[in-house]
Amino acid sequence: MLAAARTASGFSDLLATWARQSSSRETVEMRVPMIPADSRSDSPSAEPLRAARAQRTVLVTGGGGYVGAVLVPRLLERGWAVRVVDLFIYGREALAPVAGDPALALFAGDIRDQDLLGRVLPGCDAVVHLACISNDPSFELDPELGRSINLDAFRPLVEIARSSGVARFVYASSSSVYGVKDAPDVDEGMALEPLTDYSRYKAECERILAEYESPEFTTVTLRPATVCGYSPRQRLDVVVNILTHHAVHDRKVRVFGGEQKRPNIHIDDMVDAYLEVLEQPRERVAGGVFNVGCENNTVSQLARIVCDVVGPDGIAVEVLPADDPRSYHISSAKIERELGFRPRRTVEDAVRDLVAAFAAGKLPDARRDPRYYNIRRMQELELR
Ligand SMILES: NC(=O)c1ccc[n+]([C@@H]2O[C@H](COP(=O)([O-])OP(=O)(O)OC[C@H]3O[C@@H](n4cnc5c(N)ncnc54)[C@H](O)[C@@H]3O)[C@@H](O)[C@H]2O)c1
Repeated sequence: MLAAARTASGFSDLLATWARQSSSRETVEMRVPMIPADSRSDSPSAEPLRAARAQRTVLVTGGGGYVGAVLVPRLLERGWAVRVVDLFIYGREALAPVAGDPALALFAGDIRDQDLLGRVLPGCDAVVHLACISNDPSFELDPELGRSINLDAFRPLVEIARSSGVARFVYASSSSVYGVKDAPDVDEGMALEPLTDYSRYKAECERILAEYESPEFTTVTLRPATVCGYSPRQRLDVVVNILTHHAVHDRKVRVFGGEQKRPNIHIDDMVDAYLEVLEQPRERVAGGVFNVGCENNTVSQLARIVCDVVGPDGIAVEVLPADDPRSYHISSAKIERELGFRPRRTVEDAVRDLVAAFAAGKLPDARRDPRYYNIRRMQELELR
């Protein structure tokens, strides 16, 4: 299974099998102008590529993911032509509302497929690289697979982008690259002491990207805090979203320890930060590395915010021994000082947005659908 999964066609087969299992997914699939990974640029299905040429064009890898599914529509709104390369591990439905936009081209493929990158990248002005096995547990399911996607694919992607004439490359790193520090404000100048392979490879990719910075190829790295809030491709496996889900559906939250700090950023602010570093003049961002967070709350404080929003009439809080005592805290002063970027939403806003999404029925089957939980979905795909 793994050998098959390591090729784009293996993944495509898995995805096709999965899509066949759900008639609703088939419907969406037909509405999305999906360009198969093996399509040639002169094939009729590549029309959206030509239509997009007059605009600034950005490739978003992982554009079907939690952050990507909010970023892609915002880019289109701002006049960008957008190409997405994604395995759509968590489905394609999230991009269905913008699927008819002629400025959007979707490629169901693998960032490790260099032939695909060689076809998609020419004509792009910028790249936002989000595609990733994007948390520690999913990564640890199969470290070799994780390494091939999160590290080994990175240098070829950067090189093909540069040789294709891409002028700006934005990398989604993580604030977990710092590890645990005692300093009250962890800023970008501090040493990177990543604790897991997921974080180590983020740090390694940052170093690789820095090698390529030049006047013709502007490189920028963002180190996001944990993202929270509603996305059409919802994750319910990140701290604020987990707490909100349990408060809404169980009327009870469980707090492990509670004094550990967990910095967060509202998903709409995260997307604004990507737009900011894409659109600011080169001289302001070139070679830049920026933390992006809004609040450094403890887990207990996060639970309190969730309980106040969800249940003024009372949500039970169960406190259990800490399963992960690590405490993180970051300073986001640099991005404000140098780019004027300041988050406009709070954790409370993210909780409210999620509560509204649950109430509106936008997140059905929240307990069981594996697509809300990266590790469950990866286990289901058997990419081990
Ligand atoms: N969400 C957070 O809290 C957070 C925090 C810090 C950093 N980040 C980083 O931001 C980025 C986006 O995170 P997210 O939460 O949207 O993740 P996500 O898991 O929701 O999305 C990742 C996307 O990448 C795709 N993908 C995975 N492997 C691929 C491959 N080989 N080829 C093509 N596509 C592939 C998946 O199908 C998915 O759509 C990631 O790089 C993540 O490490 C996220």
